[in-house]
Amino acid sequence: MNNFKFKNETSIRFGKDRLETELYDAVSQFGNRVLLTFGGGSIKKSGLYDRVINLLSGLEVFELSDIEPNPKINSVRQGQKLVKEHDIDVILAVGGGSVIDASKVIASSKFYDKDPWELVKDSSKRFGINQLPIVDILTLSATGTEMNAGSVISNPETNQKLGTMGPNTPAVSFLDPQLTYSVSKWQTAAGSIDIFSHLTEQYFDTGASDVTLGMIEGLYRAVIKNTPSVLADPNNYDARAALMWSSTMALNGLVSVGTQNGWTVHPIEHELSAYYDITHGIGLGILTPRWMKHILSAETVPRFAQFGRHVWHLTGTDEVVANQAIQATFDWVKSLNVPTTLPGVEINDTTHFQKMAESAVLVGDLNHSAYVPLEVADVVSLFEQSMTNSGFVD
Ligand code: NZQ
Ligand code: ZN
Repeated sequence: MNNFKFKNETSIRFGKDRLETELYDAVSQFGNRVLLTFGGGSIKKSGLYDRVINLLSGLEVFELSDIEPNPKINSVRQGQKLVKEHDIDVILAVGGGSVIDASKVIASSKFYDKDPWELVKDSSKRFGINQLPIVDILTLSATGTEMNAGSVISNPETNQKLGTMGPNTPAVSFLDPQLTYSVSKWQTAAGSIDIFSHLTEQYFDTGASDVTLGMIEGLYRAVIKNTPSVLADPNNYDARAALMWSSTMALNGLVSVGTQNGWTVHPIEHELSAYYDITHGIGLGILTPRWMKHILSAETVPRFAQFGRHVWHLTGTDEVVANQAIQATFDWVKSLNVPTTLPGVEINDTTHFQKMAESAVLVGDLNHSAYVPLEVADVVSLFEQSMTNSGFVD
């Protein structure tokens, strides 16, 4: 276990119907001028928008709407204009990861006079400046952004989708599982695969200790068990609650303490989203089993065997269990009724594979800091292997 520091200052307000009693104070403690940020309309459809507006009565509320999935830098630019023009005190982000991620960079951009894309390209610029506080109401279980300092922002002009870290996690996050009842089956599955992938990025790590591995195994089991329950019954409170808390716990920093934290599949997926604007979790579900197969070796087999025994309850020799665990991962993704190949998400040609692979290796530092280092040719091969289900029992 490597040395580590751990601190997370987000105040979590988990459970049913806390907004009525707590939202006003959570927001107004930072001032009266609020920027309400949200996405393409799901919160209007569900009634959450009206509820929030009523609860904020007495505060001065400005709005930034239409933040898209895979949030684009243009939304951040619009937000920057609003927070400066109206001298905003606090941002209330209502939505999934895309809304909250964009809001975090807008929170920095109030105190920055140049194009906020510069803040995304170079996170260090966000640390020398002030930040607006963020309060959020999470409506989709997936990213963990509700309790971490990360954001992922896309720039369609340059085909880039880049991660950026700010100095702060959200000040207050409201996690009411009931607000996820309306999430579609597609987004629910994608969200669960995203959680699964966050766990995988941290589990397959040379610095992961018994403490970390045990916590991750518990979270894996919760996600694997509760996702089908939610797909069968979207209003299953306990299953939605398990997914919501798994999302937060998988990426609030707790299970990465002491690890190398060298992620692999995320930087590769971000290239797919950057070029083809696909749903993040769906891309991860396609890539993950291929990546697992690609890195399975005498050296990694013990970790895969542990994964197979503790997560998938498999028995047998290390080698057998390791291989079955990878197939089980593929089967689980498939069982959620989402595509398992790139053509399944309309990526039918190999035109950009080389460029995407070069960028993934560079941005993700895959040839140095990954669990098993990957070169450009390895990543191209992963994309190629993702064109069909060959290699898996389908
Ligand atoms: O835009 P609206 O109308 O709100 O609809 C959204 C959107 O279309 C809809 N939705 C959200 N809550 C809903 C709902 N529909 C019905 N009922 C609800 N309660 O779902 C769609 C997807 O929303 P989005 O916010 O894009 O999903 P998610 O939370 O999965 O976020 C994905 C983004 O987060 C990034 C991803 O790369 C992607 O850009 N990530 C952020 C991370 C972080 N900050 O730590 C880590 C992750 O690895 C990830 O990369
Ligand atoms: Zn993710």
